[in-house]
Amino acid sequence: MKKSIILLALVTSITTGMQAASTQLQFDPSQGVERTLTMPTGQTVRYTAYEKLWYVTHVEDTTYQYMNVYVPEGATQHSAIFLKNNVGGYMPSRPGTISAGDATGMALLRGYVVAIPGARGRTSSVTIKKKQVYNGKAPAGLLDLKAAVRYLRHFDKEMPGDAEHIISDGTSAGGAMSALLGASGNNPAYEPLLEKMGAAQERDDIFAAVCYCPITDLAHADMAYEWLYGNTASRQADDEAHRQVSKEEAALFPAYVNSLGLKLKDGTPLTADNYLDFIKSEIMRAAQIAKDAGATIPDSIGFTFSTEGGTFAPLNGGMKPDKMPAGMTPPKGGMMPPRGGSKRVGEYITDLDMTKYLNYVAQTTPLKTAPAFDALGVAGNEASGENDEFGDASNNPANFTPYSASKNGTTVSETVKANELLLNPMQQIGSGQATVAPHWYIRHGAIDRDTAFPIPLNLALKLQNAGKDVNYLLAWNRPHSGDYALHELFDWLDSLPK
Ligand code: DHB
Repeated sequence: MKKSIILLALVTSITTGMQAASTQLQFDPSQGVERTLTMPTGQTVRYTAYEKLWYVTHVEDTTYQYMNVYVPEGATQHSAIFLKNNVGGYMPSRPGTISAGDATGMALLRGYVVAIPGARGRTSSVTIKKKQVYNGKAPAGLLDLKAAVRYLRHFDKEMPGDAEHIISDGTSAGGAMSALLGASGNNPAYEPLLEKMGAAQERDDIFAAVCYCPITDLAHADMAYEWLYGNTASRQADDEAHRQVSKEEAALFPAYVNSLGLKLKDGTPLTADNYLDFIKSEIMRAAQIAKDAGATIPDSIGFTFSTEGGTFAPLNGGMKPDKMPAGMTPPKGGMMPPRGGSKRVGEYITDLDMTKYLNYVAQTTPLKTAPAFDALGVAGNEASGENDEFGDASNNPANFTPYSASKNGTTVSETVKANELLLNPMQQIGSGQATVAPHWYIRHGAIDRDTAFPIPLNLALKLQNAGKDVNYLLAWNRPHSGDYALHELFDWLDSLPK
């Protein structure tokens, strides 16, 4: 049935957002526009675009609170829906369109219905009675995305695609949002907030969450960061005040990680005592996968290798030994002797010097300040993006960890505590309060220092321990980035039991 928009108030132009009006939720299948996407490979996909779909009835910000949906030719009611958010830096994000170069293009090519919602963020504001009101602070962005999920369920019958197979995708702060969509399904804690916005009265659990480098578990990200990087040369070169902060934060991590009660796949308890070994094994696993695929893994950054190489085919064509490619060594008893001093590098990675490796990561991209996230007012630091995310409607940033609040002679306010919990997937997994997505794909780059490795790893293990299907990797040589290895991602998504 066609539902018409009823504007109950005038649309008012304001500084950074548009304060709008009350509407009814609507989806009109006849309003689609035909388009064609050309992929970088030259392949083309015809699709129908449905844009400006308001996903709440009380639209506060017309710049962000709507969604675009794209339906590829051939999609049916059974096609899965790929819901990509464009959140970065906890900033507001406009609803995107299909992009041939990112995951949305690949999703369309593979026959997925693609939904790209906008969301308010930490700097978005509206003007109400001539006053600028910051209405995008935590957890507003997540609420918008949850409302988008509910909208897709609300119109599931009218729209191609199966709302029982929503796959969320996001990177960094967007990866955190994706993790939250996966972990917070139907949690009653969000209900009054969603109701106030006029989100559809539907379930908001999803089928799968794809999380690239999720900047999440903000309450514990500082301690993990200093525990991991506190001994690097880079951190040791900091001034005394920052080194002291680093030491104090690092000391908080063991109790936290032990409190999670995580277990490795073989049942071994994961504690602060064996956590560094776990990270080491994960980096080695990622590097081995890359090496198996032909990457050159340098030994200068801490790796050791088995000494016997694989089989070298004999060189043909009369190549002289001094013309052999650098690093190439012929087989034992093969046609040519190794070049002077060149090292045999075997097929297996056998060890990793974590001190060397962590120094390498910190050299690749300078570390964040200490504390990395809840920086406000600690050792002379300015507010971070995360302090801003937990700020108030007047745009005052806030501390969100007891440690940093105490350095400012305060405690974390009850409001901020509640918002941090609403923005943290960790406590929701296994709590019985939420319907957690059954399938997870988590990637964090092996040279990504935007948050410390334990953050995505804790998330992955907590989910795995809760019986979820988790495909996770510290992806080799990837910096802070997302939507990569798309063939691998979509082969995995295609393989999920429907
Ligand atoms: C993002 C990166 C960060 O380092 C951070 O602290 C928060 C968000 C981002 O890229 O979204």
